[in-house]
Amino acid sequence: MNGNWDFIRFKKEFFQLTGLDLERYKDKQMERRIGQLIEREGYDGLRSFFNDLKVNDDLLHKFYNYLTINTSVFYRDIKIYDYLQDRVLPDLLQNFNRLKIWSMGCSHGEEPYSIALMLHSLSSLQRAEIMASDIDDKALDMAREGKYSRNQLEKVPKDILKTAFTAQNGFYLLDPAYKKAVTFKKHNLLESALYKSLSPMQLILCRNVFIYFKTDVQEWIVEQVAKLVAPGGYFIIGCAEFINKPERFNLERLIPSIYKKIG
Ligand SMILES: C[S@@+](CC[C@H](N)C(=O)[O-])C[C@H]1O[C@@H](n2cnc3c(N)ncnc32)[C@H](O)[C@@H]1O
Repeated sequence: MNGNWDFIRFKKEFFQLTGLDLERYKDKQMERRIGQLIEREGYDGLRSFFNDLKVNDDLLHKFYNYLTINTSVFYRDIKIYDYLQDRVLPDLLQNFNRLKIWSMGCSHGEEPYSIALMLHSLSSLQRAEIMASDIDDKALDMAREGKYSRNQLEKVPKDILKTAFTAQNGFYLLDPAYKKAVTFKKHNLLESALYKSLSPMQLILCRNVFIYFKTDVQEWIVEQVAKLVAPGGYFIIGCAEFINKPERFNLERLIPSIYKKIG
């Protein structure tokens, strides 16, 4: 009983602790990342690492970070954001009175806040309800705080940076008007009850999240999300992600990463 744990035992205990099923992440990648973290933090094995995970929120945050590299920046992949600003948002604003938007796996809020900044520049922030979710409590707390370093804001247009942020002690604080526009919630994207609890939305961003899951899990997530996109709405994925045969879900690929729901 005192011996060290293997990954099977670790995954089982972790599931009981957090409700997150690590079985559904790509094995090799996950195990390599956990191994790196354990070594870096100086633990002698999975068991002692797990004992600290139970009591140390900072370590849990680092763990999620390692699991899915939760680094993000504002306006990540500028081509996609240009397309959102020039095509997707104007189209949605023309066809819907109100927009429901969801940023899934939002990390520290960079993605949903980028959308809020763009909607503001289109004079339409009041017409949108933006929900953003992640499994990592600490990332969500940081998102609610809205405090960023300069390198997270590198791609924010200069005029927006000036008006939407206040520089303070080397950091940039987001204006409360944008913070109010986004509701952050803790959600596990692997739980089917989550999708059943939501109503259709006009824009869903699930970027750089499902790439970390096994192929059948990726398919399952895409199917759940596709059902939630309202006809005429959009589904945006990460640049390294792909939806196989999108027509199965009534999705049309407009450019890589951007899909429109037909109907
Ligand atoms: C690489 S970040 C993506 C951030 C942002 N979407 C972007 O593209 O810049 C991945 C995020 O997914 C979150 N995540 C990983 N597994 C999750 C799960 N099962 N449920 C919800 N969020 C999860 C992580 O905590 C992390 O913040």
